[in-house]
Amino acid sequence: MKIEDILTRAPVIPVLIIDEVADAVPLGRALVAGGLPVLEITMRTPVAAQCMEKMAAEVEGAIVGAGTVLNGKMRKAAADAGAQFVVSPGLIEGETAEGPCPLLPGIATATELMAGLAAGFRCFKLFPANIVGGAGALKAYASPFPQAKFCPTGGVSAANAGEYLALPNVLCVGGSWVAPTEAVKAGDWGRITALAREAAALGQRAAAPVEG
Ligand code: 3PG
Repeated sequence: MKIEDILTRAPVIPVLIIDEVADAVPLGRALVAGGLPVLEITMRTPVAAQCMEKMAAEVEGAIVGAGTVLNGKMRKAAADAGAQFVVSPGLIEGETAEGPCPLLPGIATATELMAGLAAGFRCFKLFPANIVGGAGALKAYASPFPQAKFCPTGGVSAANAGEYLALPNVLCVGGSWVAPTEAVKAGDWGRITALAREAAALGQRAAAPVEG
């Protein structure tokens, strides 16, 4: 699958930090049930790789990727562990659009975007989106960089996701708000499905034609 195909599956990619392996499968199922099948498990906890493998194997309909991938070795390890895509907060030196699995690199400036385009990438994570210019920056990038598409992440929430999703160069947004730590710890999967449903609907509204 190409990264662009993955990023157009759903308007929101949940960014997940999972501490307990036992939470991975019910969390994944709760999000998929709410209409968010593309899931990013950040490689920030000791059990992250194990969670990714379990989610990929046991959550029907999920497209599971690894986040916080910081180098080529991590990209390869994630691909070997079954990741269907990987996400990095920045550009990884020496890594290109070709590789063991699709990579969504992060950028925060026009110079980084140009380096990413030169490495063959067309899709980028704007990170941290709300700090590095938000929707205004993406509007400004649209004219000089018409070939670039974005998944803004970092400070995105139900309150501002719609503004990003309305932009033609935004394929989806990423964010942790759909899987709050306390809901995961409490096993409140119903709340997470409700948040996912609300997030999935944001995309429909953003895509809806303007009436009147
Ligand atoms: C991250 O790297 O943690 C993601 O960008 C998520 O950011 P958020 O918690 O602001 O959604």
